[in-house]
Amino acid sequence: MQRHLIGLLLGTEEDWPRAFEEIARRIGTVTAPDGTRHAFETERITIEPFALRDRPRYDLVIDRLAYWYYVPREWLKKVALMDSVYLLNSPFTFQSMEKHAAYCAMLRLGLKVPETVLVPYKNPVDNARYAYTAAKYNQPFDLDAIAERIGYPLFMKPYDGGAWRGVSRITNPAELHAAYDASGEMLMHLQKAVDYDVFARSLSIGAETMVMKFQPDQPMHLRYAVDHAFLSPQQGTEVVTISRLVNAFFRWEFNSCETLVKAGEVHPIDYANACPDVALTSLHYYFPWAIKALVKWSAFALATGRRPRLDLNTRLYFEVADAVGLSYADKLVAYRQLADNYFETERYEEFCGASLGHLDAVVLDWVASPDFDNLIVDTVRSVYPAHEHEQFIEHLRGLLAMWIRDESSRVAA
Ligand SMILES: Nc1ncnc2c1ncn2[C@@H]1O[C@H](COP(=O)(O)OP(=O)(O)O)[C@@H](O)[C@H]1O
Ligand SMILES: [Mg+2]
Repeated sequence: MQRHLIGLLLGTEEDWPRAFEEIARRIGTVTAPDGTRHAFETERITIEPFALRDRPRYDLVIDRLAYWYYVPREWLKKVALMDSVYLLNSPFTFQSMEKHAAYCAMLRLGLKVPETVLVPYKNPVDNARYAYTAAKYNQPFDLDAIAERIGYPLFMKPYDGGAWRGVSRITNPAELHAAYDASGEMLMHLQKAVDYDVFARSLSIGAETMVMKFQPDQPMHLRYAVDHAFLSPQQGTEVVTISRLVNAFFRWEFNSCETLVKAGEVHPIDYANACPDVALTSLHYYFPWAIKALVKWSAFALATGRRPRLDLNTRLYFEVADAVGLSYADKLVAYRQLADNYFETERYEEFCGASLGHLDAVVLDWVASPDFDNLIVDTVRSVYPAHEHEQFIEHLRGLLAMWIRDESSRVAA
């Protein structure tokens, strides 16, 4: 019997870790297709001094902390380089975690990223060398001309954005200058607005992707709509392919992606969220899927000895991008193949079928239990003000009851 310790690096959240710990405990011992037996334990990682030669106790770490807290980030680099710990995600991919790098990669691969321009900082960079360097090398530029060329409306947003920080929609020169003046020391992109028909947000965990209809104008708890047929099968496949492609390209195994679909065309706009939101209050109906996928992918990686990859293999992808005679659709097929190879999709599906056949029933049983209802109540109490508790508890109970109904008939079928 092999024991695997899964470490969780957490910030303020309690909801998904509680769910993950519970499911990991309930699945019990797992027999891999090669007959070996595996048990999974979880532990929340604490922050403390560490010697660089210390051996970590963890075999796999799911990280939602190191993007802002540098002690665990440096610890993750150490365990990645020295101890081959399996990471979701590796901090070595953080260099590309600004959306700028994702835009460049996606453009290089021939995807339909809207017209995008990076403009220099509005305010001087805080560095003693700046005045001299800027006087000598910064070219004056005409912001209005850039905006004219892109065309209104457009979006101004930080090159490394997240959570809508500093994002504005701009329809005329006055708004353009107001937004640029307010950008200060943030480095901004100007991007052509896509007047989309539908907004698809997809969450990928290893070899699985859930594409959800997103309503950005709604308050947080209503942003994900429960709708199973809002994209044509072909567009759905395209969104999944682009999500997996970007993840395989940058070695992200846990990432959410945003795509705007207009007149049947799929435009990626935000593909670098490699510390994605998996909160119960935002994912609601899709929360059990997310936790299940996290447990499955962790179990798969550990029980099959999947090796973490720190390096990028861009050449392989660029060869498809540069292949003469391949249409956009042909390239998507080739990219999907590369991404599925990287994620070992087929082997993953076999593993889930053979070794985790009981998981659906385990999760269904748990979500329908009083224990899960406690999780709903505790989470709502920690997130919303008192006068909203009842409303949000009922809201979540309703959506999860819908999931239980749908999942029961899916499992029965
Ligand atoms: N090119 C665009 N066309 C239309 N809407 C956009 C565009 N870029 C951003 N938006 C809107 O602004 C929101 C935030 O922008 P996004 O690039 O996702 O930044 P963040 O990383 O902060 O989420 C998007 O969810 C979308 O609603
Ligand atoms: Mg976004």
